[in-house]
Amino acid sequence: MAEEKKVIFYTEDIEMRFGGLYALKNINIKIYENEILGMIGPNGSGKTTFFNVITGFYKPTKGRFYFMGEDLTGKEPYEITRKGISRTYQISRLCLDLTILDNILIGTYPVQKSGYSDAIFNRKKLIKEVKKHTERAVHLLNIFNPDLIEKLFVPVRSLPHIDRRRVEICRAMIAEPKLILLDEPSAGMNADETKELMDDIEKVRKEMENVTIMIIEHDMKVISSVSERVIALNFGQVIAEGTYEEVSHNKEVIEAYLGKEVANG
Ligand SMILES: Nc1ncnc2c1ncn2[C@@H]1O[C@H](COP(=O)(O)OP(=O)(O)OP(=O)(O)O)[C@@H](O)[C@H]1O
Ligand SMILES: [Mg+2]
Repeated sequence: MAEEKKVIFYTEDIEMRFGGLYALKNINIKIYENEILGMIGPNGSGKTTFFNVITGFYKPTKGRFYFMGEDLTGKEPYEITRKGISRTYQISRLCLDLTILDNILIGTYPVQKSGYSDAIFNRKKLIKEVKKHTERAVHLLNIFNPDLIEKLFVPVRSLPHIDRRRVEICRAMIAEPKLILLDEPSAGMNADETKELMDDIEKVRKEMENVTIMIIEHDMKVISSVSERVIALNFGQVIAEGTYEEVSHNKEVIEAYLGKEVANG
């Protein structure tokens, strides 16, 4: 008998309304443990809003979402990170004048165990924690691009776009998430860089068996190589779900991307 896939995350009728605009409506999706799930959809279809809802940046106007069996609806972003969901942003949020290492360590903020008092009264604990996080930062950089380890103290501003994205993904991964959400990681990159980054993402999944990845992509083809399952959104609703082959041949998806005339031949 085939092994049952474990659902680690699911939503129940999520709705996100901005005034009269339904950015998301009746969203019921599942994420399975260890999969790479793609979410596609044209501009303005609600992809980023979905991430904003499930990371606590927006409170949904209706519906609930659950992670590892726990209802996280209404929780604050830092609480959700602590529970094991991390993300990157469509528009880079790196501090360009800070070093690679500092940018990655910012990602430890929600999970730091040492506080101000430890800096005075329990420095051993603090140093141990900083050392642990720094070692993990190096380990993560090594997966993405070992050359970056030599640039730990270089400001991020001097890096090419693809390496900046890698740093952002490392920042999201340093909190040891179980689920990582990547919002259009290939935005602003050329085809070769995009391919390289998708290969990196596959590498991450291979090296870190316990990580589940959800990637938003505007460009359908980008997702084809990397994700095992794809969900398509349009006007805030799920219009197709399945393998890339199934979703990319779905009539509604083709219409959403190319317009009705092309879809009808
Ligand atoms: N804070 C907000 N206030 C009002 N409207 C919003 C807000 N955030 C998103 N929207 C609207 O919700 C809809 C979905 O936007 P969203 O950014 O989620 O789309 P997207 O699928 O990520 O698009 P893109 O591919 O361009 O990134 C859009 O119509 C957008 O204008
Ligand atoms: Mg978006």
